[in-house]
Amino acid sequence: MGYFITFEGVEGCGKTTQIKLLSDFLSARNIQAVLTREPGGCPIADKIRAILLDAENRDLSPLAELMLYGAARAQHVTEVIAPALSGGKIVLCDRFCDATVAYQSFGRGIDRDVIDSLNHHACQGVSPDLTVLFDCDPRVGLERALRRIEASSGPREERFELEALAFHERVRAGYLQLASDQPGRFFVVNGADTIENIFSAISRQVLLRIPENLHAVC
Ligand code: TMP
Repeated sequence: MGYFITFEGVEGCGKTTQIKLLSDFLSARNIQAVLTREPGGCPIADKIRAILLDAENRDLSPLAELMLYGAARAQHVTEVIAPALSGGKIVLCDRFCDATVAYQSFGRGIDRDVIDSLNHHACQGVSPDLTVLFDCDPRVGLERALRRIEASSGPREERFELEALAFHERVRAGYLQLASDQPGRFFVVNGADTIENIFSAISRQVLLRIPENLHAVC
């Protein structure tokens, strides 16, 4: 089996930059890693992503939103994550099941049992070995995320950035609750720290945790 690392945090917390740095760091050491993200990661799930993040879909109901995240995850696990882990690879995933708990349960207020049950089916037995949580003040993160959206020429994926600050505060609290419930799996970094400091903490932690046999798969 491979090793599954997920990256979580509020909007604009800096995780996407760090995942790319980590992926380059691992490949420079001949350690094979699959870099992917949610929602998305394969063509069908990318189509679901477009629906989920389109700011025009303001009327998407919380339950429909939850089911779409579940559908995208089921497809992504089947097509990408499970085969890569069975093939002995390290998988780096930008968001996974904890995002559904933080956003759809703590953020939207959907019953936690419904979310846990959906995650259970969508994940099909796959669960993160390590989750890096970027803790960050949502006000700072949202400013960063909105600046990035303004500078991008792609589709405006801003349905969540347009949510009230209180929503993002609940999401942050949800993530911190998850991390304190499972301290062995979570590694929390301060998203306000410098890119260099964050990267050095994460890369050290990853090298310590990945199994010896995955250290140099050429
Ligand atoms: P991204 O901006 O990191 O690509 O994430 C896309 C958005 O989707 C982000 O606002 C968080 C949200 N999201 C959920 O609400 N639930 C989920 O299960 C996942 C994976 C993401």
